[in-house]
Amino acid sequence: MKLMVIGSGGREHALIRKLRENPAVTRIYALPGNGGMAPDAECVPISAEDLDGAAAFALRERVDFAVVAPDGPLCLGMVDRLEESGIPSFGPRKNAAVIEGSKLFAKELMRKYGIPTAEYRSFDRHEEALEYLRGVSFPRVVKADGLALGKGVRVCQTREEAEQAVRAMMEERIFGDSGNTVVVEECLAGPEVSVLCFTDGETLKPMVSAMDHKRALDGDLGLNTGGMGVVAPNPFYTPEIAGECMRTIFLPTVRAMKAEGRTFKGCLYFGLMLTADGPKVIEYNCRFGDPEAQAVLKLLESDLLDIMVAVREGTLARTPVEFSREHACCVIAASGGYPEAYETGFPVAVQNTGGAFIDYAGVKRGGDALYTAGGRVLSVTATAPTLPEAAGAAYQAMDGVHFEGMRFRRDIGKRAMEERV
Ligand code: AMP
Ligand code: GLY
Repeated sequence: MKLMVIGSGGREHALIRKLRENPAVTRIYALPGNGGMAPDAECVPISAEDLDGAAAFALRERVDFAVVAPDGPLCLGMVDRLEESGIPSFGPRKNAAVIEGSKLFAKELMRKYGIPTAEYRSFDRHEEALEYLRGVSFPRVVKADGLALGKGVRVCQTREEAEQAVRAMMEERIFGDSGNTVVVEECLAGPEVSVLCFTDGETLKPMVSAMDHKRALDGDLGLNTGGMGVVAPNPFYTPEIAGECMRTIFLPTVRAMKAEGRTFKGCLYFGLMLTADGPKVIEYNCRFGDPEAQAVLKLLESDLLDIMVAVREGTLARTPVEFSREHACCVIAASGGYPEAYETGFPVAVQNTGGAFIDYAGVKRGGDALYTAGGRVLSVTATAPTLPEAAGAAYQAMDGVHFEGMRFRRDIGKRAMEERV
């Protein structure tokens, strides 16, 4: 079987690694992939957002199954385009990917179907947003409606900060059309949990829960990033809470999407906050998280390709989705300066990483060597029977990773370990 994976990050490397475990897989193409994936996939220089290019390539190479991983191509309709060309594909169609592509769509869906989330108001004129901000208490959260590379959310402690966020999004248009509409939300408090779920539109099977570490610096300080590390499972997510989420959030969301004529098939990612009033949805993503995938997929014991085929065909109910009871810890090595400006082009050296997994992200190949080419350069993931052992192994492996300006958080898993005690 020939597979094609759309995307180029660490998440895609983790997906490819797992897909390769199926003995029927003979070849995996990554579009465009990255230089670090070379031993696991053949990188093809076609952009992840080139719908026609990807479809033409898949037809020419007789690709049997495609996996579309990033939000950009999903929201553009990559799955629709591939399926129209006769290429069976994993991922939601465009009309379902909107659950991530428009925050206002997601909020209206939750309001209509009674799914717990933060109270909100939406605005498409900045004067009205500013007027509203004059009459409310703080903190508040200001969100750009559309995709914004994970940077469209500002948690604002004061009215001045919120006004500035509204002006930046709506007047200065820092996210372009993604800021045409903004959502202003009540600020929730509590531990955050990421739960990635497989769903075929009827049946939903959650993966092991995860805890992302979004801030750039130790102690959850510094700027928000795409994620600096993950542990799985998340100790705050107890079996009782999992049951409540299934009842009040996961199944209602899948049913709501179906009722709206937007059946969601793929990986539905629930970003949750465990508030004093129960679990609430902070965000939906229409895809695997990055770096959540790097941690969670290491614990998947069932066959990923079988699950993905079942999701597409609507047979998830009779397809096993089993996870090991071990713990995973994933730590990102980033370029100095990330998530702000950083330099690239430095050689990447990786040695003696023991049993840990290296998933490459922002790297490119030059001859036999790898060079940095992005903010998040690679991730190191280890699994072990306990979280302290997994974190210890991940950090030990990180000692074998070097590139100029490299930085990583030294406290991935610390909060989770404190919760355990
Ligand atoms: P997102 O880009 O949607 O993942 O949001 C980024 C981060 O903003 C989340 O991980 C939360 O920490 C925070 N956030 C988003 N919405 C809220 C909210 N309503 N209350 C408190 N924090 C929030
Ligand atoms: N790590 C968060 C995300 O993928 O959106």
